[in-house]
Amino acid sequence: MTYSLYESISPPVGRRSPHRRWKPVFLVTSKENSAEFETGYKLMKRNLLLAALLIMGLTLPAAASQRTEFPVASPPLSEGIFPCSNCHAGLEVNAKRRELKNEHTNIKLHHAEQERWCLDCHNAANRDKLKLADGEAVDFTESYRLCGQCHGNIYRDWKAGIHGKRVGYFKGGKRTYFLCVNCHNPHDPKFKPIKPLPPPIRPEYNNGR
Ligand code: HEC
Ligand code: HEC
Ligand code: HEC
Ligand code: HEC
Repeated sequence: MTYSLYESISPPVGRRSPHRRWKPVFLVTSKENSAEFETGYKLMKRNLLLAALLIMGLTLPAAASQRTEFPVASPPLSEGIFPCSNCHAGLEVNAKRRELKNEHTNIKLHHAEQERWCLDCHNAANRDKLKLADGEAVDFTESYRLCGQCHGNIYRDWKAGIHGKRVGYFKGGKRTYFLCVNCHNPHDPKFKPIKPLPPPIRPEYNNGR
């Protein structure tokens, strides 16, 4: 003997109710149809599983390809430095924090440098790419994703066009976003305070000269 909870969806006879009546009722089933019920239940479970897998299969690649890519200005890399693999393909990876003596001597890291070093942002295995915290390799054209990991609010504003700059047309045509690194040096991003210049001298005080 098994007890199972069923739901009746039949509206009361003789009256067309606008509402469906959901009534829980207990069905007492005998041994035989309990076996039937069980196989039916197993089938249903399998179908549900198949449906779930199908839905996942359909939505996962779609979700992955739905990630918006922003049309951006080209990354402001120094001339001749890219592809980095020109040199790095034949170089050993040196993850040690150190003063660089042979190359990139102009780079002085001043960006939460106590907590990190070069290869937290640059991909050790493929130097032509950047690296997100989860290890995903991203192109230099998507460096905003790297910055966005820690500067979430600014990233949100940037996407909405509140922080940063966009150029191009409002109506149709291509609008391009300035990358974060078009304005901020990724190795030393804080803007230096600008020394104010003296105001211009009014002409009447210098006889129009
Ligand atoms: C906060 C993340 C971050 C860290 C840490 C970092 N970089 Fe970078 N680096 C970047 C990004 C982003 C760019 C790309 C800038 C661009 O698109 O022009 C870049 C560009 C470069 C470039 C190309 C520079 C050029 O002149 O065009 C070199 C070389 C480089 N990094 C080396 C290093 C070295 C060496 C270190 C460690 C001392 C380091 N980076 C630390 C994010 C980082
Ligand atoms: C002309 C050759 C050359 C090019 C091009 C070059 N690098 Fe390097 N890079 C080096 C050398 C050599 C070192 C080691 C310097 C040292 O140890 O003093 C180095 C070191 C580094 C390091 C420190 C970590 C490590 O493995 O030693 C990073 C990060 C780095 N380069 C990133 C880049 C990026 C990003 C680019 C392209 C935008 C780039 N490099 C282009 C020669 C190059
Ligand atoms: C791993 C986290 C992390 C990533 C990734 C990161 N930042 Fe930062 N950033 C910080 C922290 C922490 C500070 C504050 C400490 C400092 O200024 O050294 C900071 C400071 C800054 C500042 C200065 C803020 C001020 O107070 O004026 C700017 C601008 C900035 N980051 C821009 C960027 C850009 C652009 C990128 C991408 C190339 C980036 N950050 C990537 C953590 C991060
Ligand atoms: C068009 C140039 C431009 C672009 C693009 C840009 N920024 Fe900025 N950012 C600025 C200026 C200007 C400031 C204000 C500096 C100041 O007040 O000292 C600033 C300030 C900041 C600060 C400090 C803000 C604070 O509240 O202390 C952070 C962090 C920052 N930007 C990160 C980013 C990141 C991340 C991106 C890309 C997603 C980005 N910026 C893109 C120009 C830019």
